Amino acid sequence: MRYISLLLLLVFLNCEEKNKKEVAQKIVFDVYEPSEMATLMNEMYDYNLAVKDSILNGHWPTHFPIDFIEIHKAEMTEGKSRNTVFNSFSEVFLKVQEDFHNTTDSTLIIQNFNKVVDVCISCHQTECVGPIPRIKKLRIQ
Ligand code: HEC
Repeated sequence: MRYISLLLLLVFLNCEEKNKKEVAQKIVFDVYEPSEMATLMNEMYDYNLAVKDSILNGHWPTHFPIDFIEIHKAEMTEGKSRNTVFNSFSEVFLKVQEDFHNTTDSTLIIQNFNKVVDVCISCHQTECVGPIPRIKKLRIQ
């Protein structure tokens, strides 16, 4: 168990480290090329932030952003790769994101939106803890 924790810790540190390196590159060279996955993730973030604002203003989208299925094939930052855990989180994510868009009962909309954010967070807990504080802010209280 302790060994597994240590392994997980190393994975987390690795991810944090990489993020820092990427930020540094961005500042110094101005030619920072985010991976396809990082670009997709930023789109998913912006999209859900816009959705949050809409919900708070009393309306929400009913069309699933089909581009999100790219999560299954987008290229990741060097050194990262898909594994079974990642693939199952991808499936669950697409499912809850789709369920959100299919919500017809307006009393469930906030709950279903927060479910999406919680899946973002769950996957990040196993893959990449760096952006979690930012993602948490998407939740509607
Ligand atoms: C299946 C796992 C998984 C899910 C679900 C997931 N992420 Fe990610 N996320 C990742 C991984 C892995 C990376 C690192 C990608 C890379 O560096 O190539 C990442 C990176 C990010 C980044 C940093 C991008 C950058 O510029 O480096 C943000 C922000 C982010 N995710 C937000 C989200 C949001 C918001 C959601 C939900 C709407 C979400 N993620 C769902 C795994 C996931």
